[in-house]
Amino acid sequence: MSKSLQAIRGMNDILPDQTPVWRYVEGKVARLLDNYGYKQIRMPIVEFTELFKRSIGEVTDIVEKEMYTFEDRNGDSLTLRPEGTAACVRAVLEHGITGGGQVQKLWYIGPMFRHERPQKGRYRQFHQIGVEVFNLDGPDIDAELIVLTWRLWGELGIRDAVKLELNSLGTSEARARYRAALVEYLSSRLSELDEDSQRRLKSNPLRVLDTKNADTQAVLVDAPKLVDYLDEESRVHFEGLKARLDAAGIPYVINPKLVRGLDYYSKTVFEWVTDKLGAQGTVCAGGRYDGLVEQMGGKPTTGVGFAMGIERLILLVETLEQIPQELARQVDVYLCAFGEAAELAALALSERVRDQLPNLRLQINAGAGSFKSQFKKADKSGALYALILGDDELAQQVVGVKPLRGQGEQQTIAWDALAEHLATCVVQG
Ligand code: HAM
Repeated sequence: MSKSLQAIRGMNDILPDQTPVWRYVEGKVARLLDNYGYKQIRMPIVEFTELFKRSIGEVTDIVEKEMYTFEDRNGDSLTLRPEGTAACVRAVLEHGITGGGQVQKLWYIGPMFRHERPQKGRYRQFHQIGVEVFNLDGPDIDAELIVLTWRLWGELGIRDAVKLELNSLGTSEARARYRAALVEYLSSRLSELDEDSQRRLKSNPLRVLDTKNADTQAVLVDAPKLVDYLDEESRVHFEGLKARLDAAGIPYVINPKLVRGLDYYSKTVFEWVTDKLGAQGTVCAGGRYDGLVEQMGGKPTTGVGFAMGIERLILLVETLEQIPQELARQVDVYLCAFGEAAELAALALSERVRDQLPNLRLQINAGAGSFKSQFKKADKSGALYALILGDDELAQQVVGVKPLRGQGEQQTIAWDALAEHLATCVVQG
């Protein structure tokens, strides 16, 4: 195939054999969030570039080198959203739905775009399910976000493979004091830092804590610790969160180096990580961003949220072989009809059955064909039963119900009794 007809590197098609897993995972998350009282919001995929620069931070990897930015026909600089928080804040502000202290518990799902180097678990178009909560400032809501993800990991069968890492970044004033101390210390050992960390020291010093470079990590051992600079308010908040996680029986580790790659966080930050996916081990991440709404031009409004990467979640569910067996079967019954008259009757009959059993997954044969070819298709569809309607059945107003997966003998059932019969023998998906 010529190059112009290929998908863009790092942007994947999700083919029909994969979509059942996607719908399974997305369905589980959507139901869970409904049950916890979160409401869905849908934002555009494209926003003004300025929005991301102002919220995520000018000196972050995302804004510096990963955004898909272009000029539209009006000459406006637009960007494919690299994440959802900025757009969600923009939307609640624009529509005034967090004004006057109104609480909003929101979630969204959709594609995000970052020009990163593609590899397993890291793509240029990927999908997130995100949650954002506004105007609740206590540790109870931070805990709820973590508790509900913990429940999700249980439902998906991946709980044993993920670990919760927690940290508190403090208020922006506390962080500024810490940043000054860190810069002073790292500057005194500048020559021992790797090149990237030297650059970050000038632009975004907290990100040096994130380094993978062993020499820089060695320098960091004696660096000032964020926890020693935490303000009282953030310390109490963090203790409150830990107490709730303890009460809920959720294990966690404190990772003092966890700073996150986006600038808007304050107080709580957390990541759910796994060692089962290689280098791209963070399946879900988030934290508090109490200053962001104000920074974007709104009244002081606290915020906290997280986003999970759907591709990574699915990879993990697959790696741990936690995909339910029943997902493999997408058809319950397959209706075979032989001859024009039987086909007409089959269409009417199938619609009657659908009226009576709205959840039945009934596939009607299209394209006619011999007994042999229709049975082959019925079998390949994965259906539990083939329904057979030929001239004899038509004359007697019955159908043959032939089990395809070794569950007993073929039976003959009257049209009027078919729905009732299928209701007893097919577990509806
Ligand atoms: P983030 O850490 O940039 O945070 O992304 C959240 C999650 O999205 C990651 O943990 C990962 O699972 C997934 N992800 C990120 N980049 C990629 C990629 N290139 N390929 C595949 N998956 C990826 C945020 O986006 C924040 N908006 C989260 C948040 C919401 N904080 C508060 N509210």
